[in-house]
Amino acid sequence: MDPDASSWFRSMSSTFSFLFFGFTILFSIFALFLYVVRLRLWCSCEICRSYVTSSWRKDFANLCDWYTHLLRKSPTGTIHLHVLNNIITVNPENIEYMLKTNFENYPKGKPFSTVLGDLLGRGIFNIDGHPWKFQRKMASMELGSVSIRMFAFELITDDIRSRLIPLFSLIAGKEEVLDLQDVFRRFSFDNICKFSFGLDPGCLNLSQPMSKFATAFDTASKLSAERALVPTPVIWKLKRLLSIGSEKKLKEAISMVNELAYAIIEERKRTGFSTNKDLLSRFMASIDDHKYLRDIVISFLLAGRDTIASGLTSFFILLSQHPEVESVIRQEIDSVMTSTPCDDLASFEQMREMHYLNAAIHESLRLYPPVQFDSKFAQEDDVLPDGSFVKRGTRTTYHQYAMGRMDRIWGQDSHEFKPERWLKNGVFVPESLYNFTVFHAGFRVCLGKEMALVEMKSVAVAVVRRFSIRVADSKQVPRFSPGLTATVSGGLPVVIQEIKN
Ligand code: HEM
Repeated sequence: MDPDASSWFRSMSSTFSFLFFGFTILFSIFALFLYVVRLRLWCSCEICRSYVTSSWRKDFANLCDWYTHLLRKSPTGTIHLHVLNNIITVNPENIEYMLKTNFENYPKGKPFSTVLGDLLGRGIFNIDGHPWKFQRKMASMELGSVSIRMFAFELITDDIRSRLIPLFSLIAGKEEVLDLQDVFRRFSFDNICKFSFGLDPGCLNLSQPMSKFATAFDTASKLSAERALVPTPVIWKLKRLLSIGSEKKLKEAISMVNELAYAIIEERKRTGFSTNKDLLSRFMASIDDHKYLRDIVISFLLAGRDTIASGLTSFFILLSQHPEVESVIRQEIDSVMTSTPCDDLASFEQMREMHYLNAAIHESLRLYPPVQFDSKFAQEDDVLPDGSFVKRGTRTTYHQYAMGRMDRIWGQDSHEFKPERWLKNGVFVPESLYNFTVFHAGFRVCLGKEMALVEMKSVAVAVVRRFSIRVADSKQVPRFSPGLTATVSGGLPVVIQEIKN
């Protein structure tokens, strides 16, 4: 190229870069300004002031504990955080209205789907309207089938027998401290990957580094959730545009997840999928689009991984603090499994007979729900049954964690761990889904509820029958890390002892 033309081209391209980045930065500052104006960051009401200055930290370990305190005081069970444009409620009538009666007005909405869009794509968690209806129908048909439930149960019992119990026996013999939360996260990831993809990441082998897939998936879900924590989406969007910092890492992690997911889909297509029992193979019978298949399955990984690990972690925290509950569970297991050898696991039918265990698991989920709150975005102006006005675009949140601590729902002992509250004459009696919203309710109720309960009960029976687990710091009040699912900050160090029969 002519040297003059080349220098003209270089100077034009640097002018263009300068204009482009200058415009991007100015536009971002303007967007930030508009966002701040919309947020009404100057609101001086007591709740907003306490939120903005973080003064609530003086009295509460977790944000969810402060919200619980405010919601307990509110006569309607609803509060408004003006600076976040967020209405938070624990009022069961409001919740039924949002999730069922006026469901169409409370979709997940764009703010939510943008945050998780790069990871989840068009997966069921991230969509509304017709695409959601279609996927929901397909997924509920698959998850409702007896054959998939049997398949899930086989995978769970296999992982407990061949991985979890040997690991606990090994640690108990050495009297080492173990991070129980980490073990349950690895266990549930192995399990949900086999169930969804037919892939075994082998995470529960503690002597091996975490598989590339598990590490990438962890990073991708953590960084996606952190997008929701920045004061304005403009910040992460700008970082994404420039591919810098956490957004660069997120992009790399998602590419790794995609690479592995597509490799599995292509391999399955080549070798045939009709005899495989995992979810991906089942969906492949009716869907050909690889991107869509990837999106569907990734949502299931997210749904079934951290939720189960979180539920099991808090269950064992509570058992460690309440040995009296643990011994009733042990008595029940012994009476139902009298003629079952100690190294055998409980069958489906045996678990159905364990009413007290079922009650203890529900009670633990009530106090420590794996999903602590759930938000929708109002499409149009509306009024909730308790009279709260909801302006179009307002984030409307129902708070599972706070709900489990409301005297008006559970009685004056709402803060106590009492499995008996779920029993009538020794038989488990379920609570209304609008009081016990741990698995969501209404049209988008969790599709994996039964599977999750079977998994939690199977682990509980196998572990409680053979081991005694004590949290190293028994007075520890759980502090949660911010994220999509409740995770105990710093993990859960425990000491495990084998029970000699
Ligand atoms: C203790 C364990 C679990 C808890 C507490 C739980 C809780 C929830 C909650 C609160 C939602 C609503 C989420 C939202 O609207 O943003 C949900 C939805 C969902 N859950 Fe679960 N879940 C658990 C386990 C599972 C498992 C194991 C699976 C599947 C293998 C699963 C599959 C789903 C699916 C597909 C949805 C989306 C439903 C829809 O949008 O129509 N969940 N779950």
